[in-house]
Amino acid sequence: MSTKFSDIRRVTTHQLHAMKKAGEKISMLTAYDYSMAKIIDAAGIDVILVGDSASNVMAGNETTLPITLDHMIYHATSVVKAVERALIVVDIPFGSYQGSSEEALRSAIRIMKESGAHAVKMEGGIEIKESVERVLSAGVPVMGHLGLTPQSIYKFGTYSVRAKEEEEANKLIEDAVALEAFGCFAIVIEKVPAELTKLVSEKLTIPIIGIGAGQNADGQVLVMHDMLGINKEFNPRFLRRYADLHTSITEAVQHYVADVKSGSFPDETESY
Ligand code: KIV
Repeated sequence: MSTKFSDIRRVTTHQLHAMKKAGEKISMLTAYDYSMAKIIDAAGIDVILVGDSASNVMAGNETTLPITLDHMIYHATSVVKAVERALIVVDIPFGSYQGSSEEALRSAIRIMKESGAHAVKMEGGIEIKESVERVLSAGVPVMGHLGLTPQSIYKFGTYSVRAKEEEEANKLIEDAVALEAFGCFAIVIEKVPAELTKLVSEKLTIPIIGIGAGQNADGQVLVMHDMLGINKEFNPRFLRRYADLHTSITEAVQHYVADVKSGSFPDETESY
């Protein structure tokens, strides 16, 4: 699809602002490896998130908590090598910024220096003020993340919709306003009522990227494995599947196994 911004040679944080201003929605997907990042980038995605969801979909962990900074840098380095157009944002993982703003800065610098990514993402609101400001003061763009923040899953206790009650919704609005004031270039808002997303998006000039946050966000993000149907066990209401790669891959592998067993692969044209 051709849009006003589709011929951008390299997406920047400034262009994301311009997209919001122009009313053009921002597309964002996760990627964790070279080959998938190359396909997604060439298909025209605006932002690639090297998410700590790698902990779930790449490493098979139940939560995002176990993934380390070294793992995130490994994934980010692979993605950076593949991408020509998209803005690349990398999650600072659990335990690599909560200790102090110095720790946050050290982690952000390692990500930027060792992977070559363009920005980092941190979960939290007013409570991470010092860390956000410190990272920004080193010239590293920061994306915020509010609502359902998976690094705090043991505090929430469930993956259910956040900020349905007035008190939590008001806190989310205050946090979003604060993150914009600190200097974040965008905020991911996860699993909150669509009306709340609308309110926040209208209040802020920076883009709000939603996941399970309804139509009113300035952009949308999904985990690549979920939207491609690689991962069949995860079925939240907000997930739209654009492919059924689980079935395609299973059928391809079954076909290959059958061909090897029957001796029909390789044939003469596939031999030297
Ligand atoms: O890690 C991740 O994939 C994320 C998205 C769900 C926004 O943070």
